[in-house]
Amino acid sequence: MLEKNPVIFIILAFVVIMIGTTVTMIAPFKWINGPNDRIAEVKPYTPLQQEGRDIYMREGCNNCHSQTVRTLAADVERYGYGGGYSKSGEFVYDRPHLWGSRRTGPDLAHIGLKYPDQKGMWHRKHMENPQSVVPASNMPAYAFLNEPLDTTYSERKMKLLKFPYSQADLDELKGKTEMDAIIAYMRKLGTDIPIKKAEAGQQASVSKNNPFSDLKAVKADALSIYAKDCASCHGDKREGTLGPALTGSSKTDAELFAIISKGIEANGMPSFGGSLDEQKIWKLVTLIKLGKQND
Ligand code: HEC
Ligand code: HEC
Repeated sequence: MLEKNPVIFIILAFVVIMIGTTVTMIAPFKWINGPNDRIAEVKPYTPLQQEGRDIYMREGCNNCHSQTVRTLAADVERYGYGGGYSKSGEFVYDRPHLWGSRRTGPDLAHIGLKYPDQKGMWHRKHMENPQSVVPASNMPAYAFLNEPLDTTYSERKMKLLKFPYSQADLDELKGKTEMDAIIAYMRKLGTDIPIKKAEAGQQASVSKNNPFSDLKAVKADALSIYAKDCASCHGDKREGTLGPALTGSSKTDAELFAIISKGIEANGMPSFGGSLDEQKIWKLVTLIKLGKQND
C-alpha cells in the first residue's frame, strides 16, 4: 500500500536511513574519542616534523604506506614494535590523518620505535637508495629530497594548527633539507606512546651460558634469522654496512647476548629482546663468535 505513494515512501526511507546513520555514525562520538582516549604523552609535531609530514603527503608516501596498526594479533606482532595496536589518542595531532588503506610497503604508524637511532642513519641510507638496504624493495629512491627546505609557511602552519612552537624551533629549520624533515617525521612516529619494556624484566631470568657451542648445528637457523633481522644494517655477508662487521668478536657471549637483546638504541642498534626468543639470540651469538667471513 505505502509503496504505491512515492512521497510517503521517500519520507519513510529517509527516516529509516537517518536512524541508521545516527546510530552507526553520529551517536558513537558520544562515547569514543572523548577525553579518556587522550594519551598525555602524545605531543604535537615540531616545525621540522610538521614540514616532514607535509613532504610525506606531497610525495604520496601514503599511496604505499598505511599508518595504523590494526588490533589483529598478526598486525601488532608485525608493525607494533612494542607500541601495541594504534589507539585513537595517537592521532589527535594528525590533520589530516594518514591512515591509508594500501600496504605496498609496511605500516609506518610506529616506525620510530623500529629505528630509534638518533641520527636517522638508517632512514637516510634507505631513503636515498632503498635497494642498498633492502635489495628486493620496490620503493622509489628519494635522494632528490636533499634540497633546502622551503620554510616560508612553517610559522603559519604551526599557528593554523595551534601547535606550540618557539623561536628556537623555527631557527632550527635554517639550513635543514627536505630529507632532514622527513627523517625527523619518521623518527617521531609512534615514539610518544608509553611502551612497556618487557625485555628488562626478562633479562634477569636469562641463563648467561650459551647453550650452543657447535656452529654447524645452528648455522642454517642462525643465517636465516640473520637474513631477516640483521642483514639490512650489518650487510648480507656480515661484512658491516651501517652497523659493524659481525664476523667474529672479542666480546664475550654474554655481552653479545645483552647487545642483541637490549640494543644500543641511541646509536641505531635496535633491541631484539621483545621479538626474538632466547634460543634464537644465542644462535646468533654463536654465528657472530664463530662464523668467519667466507665460510
Ligand atoms: C611504490 C611504493 C612506495 C612508495 C611510493 C614509498 N614506499 Fe616506502 N616502502 C615501500 C616498500 C615496498 C617498502 C619495504 C621494503 C623497503 O624497506 O624498502 C618500503 C619501506 C619503507 C620504510 C621502512 C619500513 C620498515 O619497516 O623497515 C620506510 C621508513 C619508508 N618506506 C618510508 C617511505 C617514505 C617516507 C616515502 C615517501 C617519501 C615512501 N616510503 C614511499 C614502498 C613504497
Ligand atoms: C637498524 C640497523 C640495525 C639492525 C637491523 C641490526 N643492527 Fe646491530 N648494530 C647496528 C649499529 C648502528 C651498531 C653499532 C652501535 C654502536 O656502535 O654503538 C650495531 C651493533 C651491533 C653489535 C655490537 C657489535 C660490536 O662489536 O660492537 C652486535 C653484536 C649487533 N649489532 C648484532 C646485531 C644482530 C644479531 C642483529 C639482528 C638480530 C642486528 N644487530 C640488527 C645497527 C643494526
